[in-house]
Amino acid sequence: MQTLEVQLGERSYPIFIGESLLAQPDCLLPWIRGRQVLLVSNATVAPLYAAQILKILRDAGLAVADVTLPDGEQFKDWQHLNLIFDALLAARFSRKVTLIALGGGVVGDMTGFAAACYQRGVDFIQIPTTLLSQVDSSVGGKTGINHPLGKNMIGAFQQPRAVLADTSVLRSLPERELSAGLAEVIKYGLIRDLPFLAWLEEHMEGLMARDPALLAEAIRRSCQNKAEVVAADELEQNDVRALLNLGHTFGHAIETGMGYGSWLHGEAVGTGMLMAADLSWREGWLSAADVARVRALLVRAGLPVLPPAGLSADEFLRHMAVDKKNVDGRLRLVLLRSLGDAWVTDTASPQHLRATLEAGAALGMMA
Ligand code: NAD
Ligand code: GLY
Repeated sequence: MQTLEVQLGERSYPIFIGESLLAQPDCLLPWIRGRQVLLVSNATVAPLYAAQILKILRDAGLAVADVTLPDGEQFKDWQHLNLIFDALLAARFSRKVTLIALGGGVVGDMTGFAAACYQRGVDFIQIPTTLLSQVDSSVGGKTGINHPLGKNMIGAFQQPRAVLADTSVLRSLPERELSAGLAEVIKYGLIRDLPFLAWLEEHMEGLMARDPALLAEAIRRSCQNKAEVVAADELEQNDVRALLNLGHTFGHAIETGMGYGSWLHGEAVGTGMLMAADLSWREGWLSAADVARVRALLVRAGLPVLPPAGLSADEFLRHMAVDKKNVDGRLRLVLLRSLGDAWVTDTASPQHLRATLEAGAALGMMA
């Protein structure tokens, strides 16, 4: 097992990465401060992994309840968030309750948001079960739900007490979800860790084959990058944390425009990163060879590299206008000055942006 720490003063917390962590009571129990626990999962993950966690909790003599949400991004909303509050209140759980999120980013974001709101804030623990949630969403305390007009628009910062990334659960992950997670892994290489990008280029086939040692190393290196960024800018106030949004403004437009759950978040981010690279090339910062390098790695990770044909440039722009990075109505984008060096800018030319949005199939061909 490897341990990293997210350094946030008195709210610092560990990230444990390793095989079969879910079977080990010592990984979980020390992070529970009270006697009450609500396990939140979904209809896919709960049948696979909830029983062993519930047993550990009950064997420790804790008062335990659980709630199973429907599975899907389209349920990341107020109505289904309320199911968590229903379960907490039905069990008469107090401010000393600990919520445990067992699932991917959807369960993690919703459980964290419920923890931020319930009785004005209670403890929660992240047990991420997708690659995407192990390398990104479980770390850093961004929690929330979607609004029909914008992705992740309602939420709160609420740091977990601990993150348990059990690599053995990735064996049951569908291939498409593995690829979606790799998009966020590639992101760290593109925004701030060029040697990691080269490492990913060396090992992509092994990662796709789920080599346990390679996956553990990819998760460790991703979490290390994320922990450093979060420690530097926890509340995304100085454009350091915003770099983690490479490809997300394009990607959120795809997710919202196509309807939540149609494109996976990681797929939309992967294509969005190529669009950001394309725009960075049009702005004169990246070479065509750099864009080709990004595209080739995304393809090897099994990710789509063409934006949906059904989404027009005007629709993209309408959705991109609803973005948390925008200031006073000005679109701000994370772009690449070079591979491994991202920045947030509002200087991209509108003509270049439109050219990227209209490139469509040419986006895949250009490089
Ligand atoms: P997800 O939570 O929808 O999980 C993907 C699918 O995999 C689901 O069907 C899920 O039931 C299934 N699944 C999960 N673990 C499994 C396992 N071990 N075996 C088999 N199936 C399993 O999607 P995701 O990609 O994990 O997360 C995407 C969400 O995370 C989006 O809502 C996105 O906005 C959010 N996100 C948040 C942050 C953050 O910082 N908070 C960062 C990135 C993404
Ligand atoms: N996933 C973006 C962030 O955590 O800031």
